[in-house]
Amino acid sequence: MENQPFMNRPSMVVLGAIAFAFLAVVFFWVFKLALRDRMQTDMVSAEKVATFIHAILESDRTNYTENVVSKLKREGIDAHEHWKNERGVPLPAQFLMESGRLVALKDLNFSFRLASLNPIYVWNGPNSDRERVGLSTVQNNPVQPHYGFINKNGMRFFQAIYADRAVSQACVDCHNNHPNSPRRDLKLNDVLGGIVITFPVGE
Ligand code: HEC
Repeated sequence: MENQPFMNRPSMVVLGAIAFAFLAVVFFWVFKLALRDRMQTDMVSAEKVATFIHAILESDRTNYTENVVSKLKREGIDAHEHWKNERGVPLPAQFLMESGRLVALKDLNFSFRLASLNPIYVWNGPNSDRERVGLSTVQNNPVQPHYGFINKNGMRFFQAIYADRAVSQACVDCHNNHPNSPRRDLKLNDVLGGIVITFPVGE
C-alpha cells in the first residue's frame, strides 16, 4: 500500500502536458509583450518625422540668418533677393526654398517649401485646396501644426503645415516694403505663411 505511487502514469502524463502547455502560454505572452514594446519603440509616427524635419529646417534657417547673413552684412555683403545674378547671398527664405529644390531632385517624393495665402510671388501660393485650408488653419492657430493625408498618383502622402511667423522686425519690414507684396500692414509675430512638408507613407 505504502509503495503505491501518488498518481498513476497516465494522469502524470496529462498533468505534465497541462503544466507544459500552461508554461508555454505564459512564455508566449511574456515574449509577445516584450516584442510588442520593442516594436512600438522602433516605430516613428508620421507626425514625429514631420516634427524632426521642421526642427532641422527652422534651425538651419536661423543658423544661416544669425551666423552667415549677419556676419556677411558686417563685411559688406548683403543677403539679396537677386543673389543668383548679383553680388550677395540668398535671403533666409530663399535659402530654405533652394534646399527644397535640391531635395526635390532626389526622387524621394519628399518635398518642403515656404508658402503663403498672401505670397510675395504667386508660385509661393497654395498648390491645392488642402494646402489653402492648412495655411488658413495655421494662420488662425499658429501653435498647432496642420496635418493631413493625401492620395496622389496611387501613393499616400503625409502633409504637415507649420506656421511661419514674423519673428523679427526684419521680416516685417522687408515683407511690408517689397514692391510685389500684397500686404503692407504686417506686424511683429504675424503669421506670414507656412512651412509645408510632404512625404510618402506606408511604402
Ligand atoms: C530682405 C527681405 C526679406 C526678409 C528679411 C524676409 N523675407 Fe520672406 N521673403 C522675401 C522674398 C523676396 C520672398 C520670395 C522669395 C522667392 O519666392 O524667391 C519671401 C518669401 C517668404 C515666404 C513665402 C511666401 C511669400 O511671401 O512668397 C515666407 C513664408 C516668408 N518669406 C517668411 C519670412 C519670415 C518669417 C521672415 C523673417 C524670419 C522673412 N520672410 C524675412 C523677402 C524677405
